[in-house]
Amino acid sequence: MHMTGTNQTRNRTRSQQWFERAQQSLVEGVNSPSRGATVYTPGPIMLERGQGSHVWDADGNEYVDFMMSFGALIQGHGHPTLVKTVSEAMAEGSHFAAATSAEVEAAERFRRFVPSAEVVRFTNTGSEATMLAMRLARAHTGRCKFLKFEGHYHGWYDPYLLNAHSHPPEQLGPPENPARIPDSEGIPPSTFEDVLLAPWNNVAALAHVLRQHGHELAAVITEPIMANMGCILPRDGYLQRLRELTRDCGCLLIFDEVVTGFRYAPGGCQEYYGVRPDLSTFGKALGAGFPVGAVAGPRPILERMRWSEHMVLHYGTFNGHRLTMKVVAANLDLLAAENTYSKLHAVGNAAIAGLREVFRRRQAKAIVQGFGPMFQIYFTGRDAIHDYRDYCTHVDTKLYSRFVHCLLERGIYMTPSNGLHWIISTAHTDADVQTLVEAADQACSGLS
Ligand SMILES: Cc1ncc(COP(=O)(O)O)c(C=O)c1O
Repeated sequence: MHMTGTNQTRNRTRSQQWFERAQQSLVEGVNSPSRGATVYTPGPIMLERGQGSHVWDADGNEYVDFMMSFGALIQGHGHPTLVKTVSEAMAEGSHFAAATSAEVEAAERFRRFVPSAEVVRFTNTGSEATMLAMRLARAHTGRCKFLKFEGHYHGWYDPYLLNAHSHPPEQLGPPENPARIPDSEGIPPSTFEDVLLAPWNNVAALAHVLRQHGHELAAVITEPIMANMGCILPRDGYLQRLRELTRDCGCLLIFDEVVTGFRYAPGGCQEYYGVRPDLSTFGKALGAGFPVGAVAGPRPILERMRWSEHMVLHYGTFNGHRLTMKVVAANLDLLAAENTYSKLHAVGNAAIAGLREVFRRRQAKAIVQGFGPMFQIYFTGRDAIHDYRDYCTHVDTKLYSRFVHCLLERGIYMTPSNGLHWIISTAHTDADVQTLVEAADQACSGLS
């Protein structure tokens, strides 16, 4: 398979100048490797401005944005209600690190959205939320170990950084005893002694591990839709079985809804699939572009943070940041409007259908996986990608990167990293979908 048309045609002089300058002061010229030259060739496009579903780069090139800040921008860029909310909150005092009515109003709305949230604790990022959730689970159960799945990413907390990146299939080991591959240097190997690893979407493999180790586990943590190997859906009944099996061995089930929360349904995937976890974590779409995370669940578990000799400690100068809490409340009010979710699903499904039609017509070996507000394209001979091993073995991530670089030349902004996913916000329109489909068609013109 080959692709033509990847040559850069848009003027990126200013982006390149900024990137050169950035490298003098920032490692790789960025603040996260997923934004730099590891992913973008020859270097990142410097974005300067966003409005609705569109962004503009430092050279004035315009794009439809389908990355949406890795999913944080559920309302698109510069939503007028949020601009007003932020301006007012800022003028009154952005943060007091004291009790505020703003955090109460945010929490009340949160609980209306997420049925399993008897109480909620706000953090500043998704990583902080997953960190806290595990500390709570360990304190609540009195057990230390936990199980995570291959290919799931839960933030950059030490013990989660096992097999979160893709690797060549020959390095993965057998599914019943996966090779354990740390994602970062600087983590003591002993950290991983408390971590069990299992393949996802495979009830038999999970049941096997839980039979042996279930009694030692504080929790099983899962993304309900795998969002860090593209977009991989749970097989029918998988999440339900996961719920039953974890309950049977007395460990907690944590849904990491940092990506899926407030996106698939008001109550996230737990509402969409009708499965109630013990704890869940949120971030991204909750803050509509502002840094926030949350842990939610039943009072007896979260109350372990209540001040006492045996409390679970969770501090943070910026927890419940007033300005962010105002944004959270305003964002949830916007999301509560009638038809929000049916529109998100309809626009996303139109984009998916349009892309599938392009790949069919162009006879490209590509599938579009996911539904509604989140999806991913895989260049593969397979009909579906079901787990990490499928992704590592059968997905042509290099071809995807070249395809996205072609789209970047045609006014579509997206990360060339196949492990992420396309995001639909409330700002996206049918016209944006049309632009995407036409750009994809042109980008495919060289596929054979
Ligand atoms: C499923 C999941 N959990 C947790 C996180 C960490 O969130 P944050 O980047 O806000 O720390 C991410 C980030 O991409 C994520 O995808």
